[in-house]
Amino acid sequence: MKRKGIILAGGSGSRLFPLTRVVCKQLLPVYDKPMVYYPLSVLMLTDVRDILIISTPEDLPAFEHLFGDGSRIGLNIVYAEQPRPEGLAQAFIIGKEFLDGAPAVLILGDNMICAQDLTHLLRQADIRKHGATIFGYRVKDPSRYGVVEFDENKKVLSIEEKPAHPRSDYAVPGLYFYDERVCEMAASLIPSARGEIEITDLNRLYLKEGSLQMELLGRGTIWMDMGTHDSLLEAGFYVHTIETRQGLQIACPEEIAFHKGWVGHEIIEEEISRLGRTDYAGYLKEMLEDDLAHRGRRVPQSE
Ligand code: TTP
Repeated sequence: MKRKGIILAGGSGSRLFPLTRVVCKQLLPVYDKPMVYYPLSVLMLTDVRDILIISTPEDLPAFEHLFGDGSRIGLNIVYAEQPRPEGLAQAFIIGKEFLDGAPAVLILGDNMICAQDLTHLLRQADIRKHGATIFGYRVKDPSRYGVVEFDENKKVLSIEEKPAHPRSDYAVPGLYFYDERVCEMAASLIPSARGEIEITDLNRLYLKEGSLQMELLGRGTIWMDMGTHDSLLEAGFYVHTIETRQGLQIACPEEIAFHKGWVGHEIIEEEISRLGRTDYAGYLKEMLEDDLAHRGRRVPQSE
């Protein structure tokens, strides 16, 4: 069965108050696009086309308004409410019906991951049929995160949530691959002392049975959770720097869908007219022109 994706985009976003008093964190601008485009693009690069977006009852309509059924970017997107932020692993309680026995990939709606070899790493995780895959990313302040300890063969030894004395410098980013048993495993978890169904506990179940794998996000990779004022600004600067320097977009869902052959010229042209006179529209227009030139065809006058 083909892997399905979940974007968890609920929570309270309290660290971003007052920004998030009335606006959902995952819809805040990160330079030129809404935050959720970044995790969405990671799922698309994994070749996942069936996607569930989970958010709060108040914010879910805004996501529906933004993406609709997903067909404009070659996806099938459906939506579900998480009434209260009761933990990341609750995604697999809420998403049980959606997954319907398929393997899953979960990404947090405020995570940005950019790496040169990202597609390769995602494929490594995707082709693994048994067990779970997490990622490891070196950080200066590991005790703020889930921390993974591993040996020289990248074998996971332990995983701890926000430890006071971390056993390694490697944080676990909000991107997790699971086999088709994930809903069953999540259902067996009991809430932690802070009242959440913890993703670390879910990962520990896989670790216990010896089926938790880890891929390392190497030097030069960017992983950020954009949940603080500083990291939100830093993420925006990062995107601005790369995009203006290289002239290439980071996390442009229309571009990914087009290059994967999920949508054709017509859909992108409709998108361009909807986007008006923006650089984003100009970028898509250039993409179509390049594609036509490549195929030895001419751009119609109407464009
Ligand atoms: P957090 O950043 O840990 O929580 P938050 O978004 O509520 O923010 P704050 O700590 O500032 O109050 O959550 C990480 C991501 O996971 C974020 O995208 C929100 C999402 N999330 C849920 O959707 N449901 C949940 O139950 C939890 C715990 C998080």
